[in-house]
Amino acid sequence: MTDLLKKARDYEAKAAAQIEPEERPAFHLTPYVGWMNDPNGFSRYGGKYHLFYQYNPYDTSWGPMHWGHAVSADLLHWDYLPCALACDEPYDRFGAFSGSALELDDGRHLLMYTGVKEIPVPGKKEPDIRQTQCVAVGDGLNYRKYAGNPVISETDLPAGSSPVDFRDPKILRTADGTYLCFAGCRAADGSGDILVFESPDALHWNFRNILFRSRNRIGKMWECPDVFTLDGKTVLLSSPQDIRADQLEGLSGNCALAVVGDMDPDSGRLREEWVQPMDYGIDFYASQSVLTEDGRRVMIGWMQNWDACAERGKDQKWFGQMSVPRELRIKNGRILQSPIRELASHRTNPEAWRGELDGDRQTTPFFRGRTADLEMTIRPGGTGGFRRFEMRFAQDETGSVYSSLVYRPEEGLLTVSRQHSGTCRALLHERSCHVFSPDGALKLRVILDRFSAEIFVNDGVQTMSMALYTGQSADRIGFHSDGRGTLDIRKYDLV
Ligand code: FRU
Repeated sequence: MTDLLKKARDYEAKAAAQIEPEERPAFHLTPYVGWMNDPNGFSRYGGKYHLFYQYNPYDTSWGPMHWGHAVSADLLHWDYLPCALACDEPYDRFGAFSGSALELDDGRHLLMYTGVKEIPVPGKKEPDIRQTQCVAVGDGLNYRKYAGNPVISETDLPAGSSPVDFRDPKILRTADGTYLCFAGCRAADGSGDILVFESPDALHWNFRNILFRSRNRIGKMWECPDVFTLDGKTVLLSSPQDIRADQLEGLSGNCALAVVGDMDPDSGRLREEWVQPMDYGIDFYASQSVLTEDGRRVMIGWMQNWDACAERGKDQKWFGQMSVPRELRIKNGRILQSPIRELASHRTNPEAWRGELDGDRQTTPFFRGRTADLEMTIRPGGTGGFRRFEMRFAQDETGSVYSSLVYRPEEGLLTVSRQHSGTCRALLHERSCHVFSPDGALKLRVILDRFSAEIFVNDGVQTMSMALYTGQSADRIGFHSDGRGTLDIRKYDLV
């Protein structure tokens, strides 16, 4: 073990002991200690799910990227394992960036990641950056970096591709045993490409083709590709940077999306049928998936927005969390998401309310809880029907601190907001999306877990996620409408 890896392991074991379980979410993964971004190496190995993550143990801000490591039997209860990778080699000294994992034929676990190094340029203040693809092989606990690293570098790139933005390898194996690696890269025009490399042994790689070119249509660099088949379609998940609002249903910044279509067997290109954002809330990025033992495609994302990292808890010993694992399926030309079904077995204390809304605040129900699962159907009445329905949650006893979900049926608009969550930062705190509902009725599932809210709209046609740092005593949940309608709610605590 290198000194840097030992240092990280010693540090995290000591520092993590200072974090009480209640200071973390109940079932969303947070870093062992310090900072977390992207999920990495999401895979099944040795009878468990392994989830690695971009990790800076030493600080709650981004820094030298290590790979943190956790395992779970059900994707909801996570056990921390010691740090898997440190940036301890000349080719990854600046960071071991995102990547993926799979099991080799000989039973070993292979991690593929991006090694980032800086090259000083004489006369220039800023060094040059080089991103190359590297592997490490291990037993599910300890990993050894391959002596022949990097396995894919600048010289393997097609003409015009950038060696500076070339990262986040997703490795998989085809039916004939060939290994494929999909990596994000910038083309000569600065836009995002997803490159494909192939290998007989996961160590020796050749460029194969370009799976997808964004041609500056959506954002710039496309990060964190994942490729899989789902209900007969080929899905490319990726997370472009620098999106303008007119490019992706009003969303801007860094957004996780899916390109769905089929593979052209001759060119190896993805023939696009549609593009959809994977989340319409504030915080969701860099999603990755795993195939469960029983054949479900489950996706997890970093429940954070790069541009909103200044929104954080006071004196928190961790920063960054994963989303709830989400099952994916395709229906009516759209990927639908639902919280992993195992979550339902953690429901307790059912409460329900069903009745007429008449614009009078007193008649609507009042629940409590910050770790909860709510299912509800909201339907505006005919004449005098509400124009605005609001659910407030994480609300304190004064009522002045809360987060909210607002539905405006006439505009078909759903808005999540943490504007009044107690935040002191001038950042993105609110986002809206157009919801599809022919008769105005809206079906919602809301998952709360101490530091977040995730909303699944109309059986997962859309999702909206946000991180939340309101003190835990703010646990009231209430509902208001400005007119007539009906509301049907079931609420459970999650334990
Ligand atoms: C995405 C990302 C990846 C990169 C990693 C670095 O959030 O920028 O492209 O590998 O974070 O931490």
